[in-house]
Amino acid sequence: MEKVEFYRHQLGEDEAQNWRTVLDTLFLTLGPQVAAFEKELGEFLVRGRTDAVAPQVVGTNCCSMALVIALKALDLGPGDEVITTPMTFASTTNAILHLGATPVFVDVEPTTGLIDPRRVESAIGPRTKGILPVHLYGQLADMRALEAIARPKGLFLLEDSAHGIEMERDGVRPGQLGDAVTFSFYATKNITSGDGGAVATKHPHVADRLRRLRNHGVSKSASDRHGKAYQHWDLVELGYKANLTDLDAALLRPQLPKVLDKRARREAIAKRYEARLREAIGAVADARVSPNGVPWLVERRGTSSHHLFTIQPPPALRDELLARLGEAGIGTAVNYRAIHLLTYLQDLMHLPRGSFPIAEEIGDRTISLPMYPTLETAAQDRVVEAVASAWRALA
Ligand SMILES: Cc1ncc(COP(=O)(O)O)c(C=O)c1O
Repeated sequence: MEKVEFYRHQLGEDEAQNWRTVLDTLFLTLGPQVAAFEKELGEFLVRGRTDAVAPQVVGTNCCSMALVIALKALDLGPGDEVITTPMTFASTTNAILHLGATPVFVDVEPTTGLIDPRRVESAIGPRTKGILPVHLYGQLADMRALEAIARPKGLFLLEDSAHGIEMERDGVRPGQLGDAVTFSFYATKNITSGDGGAVATKHPHVADRLRRLRNHGVSKSASDRHGKAYQHWDLVELGYKANLTDLDAALLRPQLPKVLDKRARREAIAKRYEARLREAIGAVADARVSPNGVPWLVERRGTSSHHLFTIQPPPALRDELLARLGEAGIGTAVNYRAIHLLTYLQDLMHLPRGSFPIAEEIGDRTISLPMYPTLETAAQDRVVEAVASAWRALA
């Protein structure tokens, strides 16, 4: 039987056609396609809002580098601390560490896996420079609560929105309340160019710095200088080579107008997963009560991008369930094991198991199932049946 892949992209003729047009133009990188994508993504973020000005968007080669340049543009430096979540991918903490700063973890909410604002306040110290929430699986963190904590203390708020551009909660969208927000267009993301990313910010001075930082720290890009009398460029600060290319932007642009329809399709798939899993294993799953209050299905808050669909079997079953799903031809992933328990951070920070019990429990339980708009009903049923039969056999 054919494997149910964990992810399948939906790039097709629209993307291919736009990509081909770039081959006939002069600029393959930091040219007109990048500029158009940046403008269109900024407009997308404020769609339908008459009260809001579009943020400035700076395209990058990935979200990991977007995080690095965003932190640098927000003046993070050696000795500073950033409050963040242990339930995230390596990029979030790597970015903080690359700048010589220290991640200070706070535990997450049991039902959503999102950073718990109630724990943030008490983690603030004299070296705290900012707060870095992650919109896990495509659900927005409680940005209104985080903003209320950050603003009076003069802390920056940087959002890691690698899991989507299309979510909303309490009338808030990615980047609306934060000083900056980063996005990923990695191969499995809801819009993708294989690799790619962006930072959006409402602060013009931050945007100017981001443009410089993604291009080595030089004062003018080749396309800025093109067609004018020769202009010398200057190196004004230590930057990175971290820009989006026109080829990538050309793949991304046709996906923007489709993303909301695809979100609706993802939501239908998520709801069907939940209903079918409840029918198949609800009673067995509900019987196992977590001491930390972690449910077997993540609680929904607001409008999710539904980037990932996760289930949370008891820790003792997780790895065996993963193995059985693999044998049944079902693609899976683990997003994520709690980051502070991984080797590099253990060696560096020595935060023992028990430091963040809720993130650790989610990390021991979570499994991501196949989730993409073209996932067919029959394939989804195979996933549900494989999960249910393995779970019942093991529970
Ligand atoms: C939460 C989170 N942040 C950052 C990243 C990094 O994204 P990229 O692969 O575009 O560098 C990822 C990647 O999956 C992620 O899941």
